[in-house]
Amino acid sequence: MKKRAITLFINGDEYNITVDADETLTQVIRNQLNLTDLKHCCGRGECGACTVQVEDDRYPTGKKIINSCLSLAAMMDGKRIYTVGGLEKGGTLHPVQEAFVEQGAVQCGFCSGGMIMKTVDILENNAKAGEAEIREGLEGNICRCTGYTKIVEAAKQAGKVMAAGK
Ligand code: FES
Ligand code: FES
Repeated sequence: MKKRAITLFINGDEYNITVDADETLTQVIRNQLNLTDLKHCCGRGECGACTVQVEDDRYPTGKKIINSCLSLAAMMDGKRIYTVGGLEKGGTLHPVQEAFVEQGAVQCGFCSGGMIMKTVDILENNAKAGEAEIREGLEGNICRCTGYTKIVEAAKQAGKVMAAGK
């Protein structure tokens, strides 16, 4: 398999690595960089466990939300990538993480990283997103434990904090 040298910036850290042309971003982040906060489940874009944000100037927030299992790492050369592992700053949880804990929106936790990143993206685009918008935004992320109600409540709680600019 053809190899390619690339640079990824993950949660602000620079990684200069060599990847196979057919390796997905999930495989590289988890297996080569050992950043296992990123989860891998279906591997075909159906569950959202592998959700990350990637810099993209075409979007108002400068970031686009993707399933990393469907993205080739080689195509991400030079990009800034954000995973759930980068949300906590100096020991302080991101408002979305805090709300997920407070609302009991995390059970087994397998979906949580992707679910939290998707929620962050929804609220960065519109912190005042209502329940319907939140539910629609989270449609691609599957949770087998919580029944979604607590996740939606957590997103609403975090939205209030983010809208207040806290
Ligand atoms: S592991 Fe990527 S969508 Fe399921
Ligand atoms: S908390 Fe278990 S799959 Fe969502």
